[in-house]
Amino acid sequence: RRVQVGIVGAGPAGLLLAHLLHRIGVETLVLEAKSRAYLETSPHRIRAGVLEWGTKEILLAAGLGERMEREGLEHRGVYLAFDGALHRVDFPTLAGGRSIWVYGQQYAVRDMIRLHLERGGEILFEHEVLGVEEPERNPVLVYRTPEGRTERVQTEFAVGADGSHSALRGLIPGARVHRRTYPFAWLGILAETRPAAEELIYASHPRGFALFSMRSPTLARNYLQVGPEERLEDWPEARIWEELALRLDGVAEVRPGPLLEKSLTPMRALVVEPMQHGRFFLIGDAAHVVPPTGAKGMNMAVADAVALFRALRAFYLEKDPTFLGSFTEEALRHVWQAEFFSYWMTTLLHTHEDPFAEGLRLAQLRHLGESPHLLSFLAENYVGLHTTGRW
Ligand code: DHB
Repeated sequence: RRVQVGIVGAGPAGLLLAHLLHRIGVETLVLEAKSRAYLETSPHRIRAGVLEWGTKEILLAAGLGERMEREGLEHRGVYLAFDGALHRVDFPTLAGGRSIWVYGQQYAVRDMIRLHLERGGEILFEHEVLGVEEPERNPVLVYRTPEGRTERVQTEFAVGADGSHSALRGLIPGARVHRRTYPFAWLGILAETRPAAEELIYASHPRGFALFSMRSPTLARNYLQVGPEERLEDWPEARIWEELALRLDGVAEVRPGPLLEKSLTPMRALVVEPMQHGRFFLIGDAAHVVPPTGAKGMNMAVADAVALFRALRAFYLEKDPTFLGSFTEEALRHVWQAEFFSYWMTTLLHTHEDPFAEGLRLAQLRHLGESPHLLSFLAENYVGLHTTGRW
């Protein structure tokens, strides 16, 4: 069988690209190793939940944002908490009238799957891609069906959107993989209780960083900075709530509630360069990973998908291959910007063992609390510099 564009992975990057191409009549096939139920409901799939302004605009323009608009929460600011006080970062005033949208990645993926299938797109779940033959000039995706047969699909372009543990990353000969490991991890919980505040609180405390987020007015999503060697077994529920309260330091109230999920996230960064080889491209976490602080991951996946969509559209509709040639260069601009902001937020908010690093960190945090210039830097990056919503 043949398709124009074969996409590996039904996450935000792969699904958005497939849907945008489908809308202009380019035939795509998405192959996904996991089941639909796993993607939509597994608690282990819980990811960040902050959509930049432009990401929200893109989902709406692509016809994928109706439920997000109805059930997501618009947030017009976040709080920083340090030295026993709350400091509000007001997005509209600091970042040109823009805001962000709180909507879980898992919900966004569920919506994209449903709408893409309803509109005639094709996604094969539980189809594991084993390899790509001739990625440079004539990509053939080799995959295993749920029944265990090995089959092939001939494509004009193949796209690896298979996430942070990408099996396809290695297909780019000579690619450099730039890595950074941060000396922290996040212990995350999802709990049935009222969030600590009506907006997110990023709390910097001598005991460590804590983040108070949410998925809805009755679902709190909170995180604690812990050491990278920490084990979940050492964190019974009572200890988690106690630690969250200590780090919140009385600036708001944490109300314990039943835990729906508990997980540990290591913090690392990774950038693959280049993101392409001949007729093969990498997008989303397959091409780059950020530490979670600032919630850039899904927004970067969306920005990649839009950049590759534009390049493929120029190729198919205008017979112009130049944008495909410069895809990596185009994508790495927003990738490095987001890597920088994630690095900056992580360094600014997590306590460091080295007293010199800690002194620098507190100096910047306190300056931030007083300076509209520094707050604008935070706000502009937070609402997004690169996903403009136009294409
Ligand atoms: C969430 C995660 C983040 O990394 C962040 O910066 C903000 C919110 C979340 O899961 O809600």
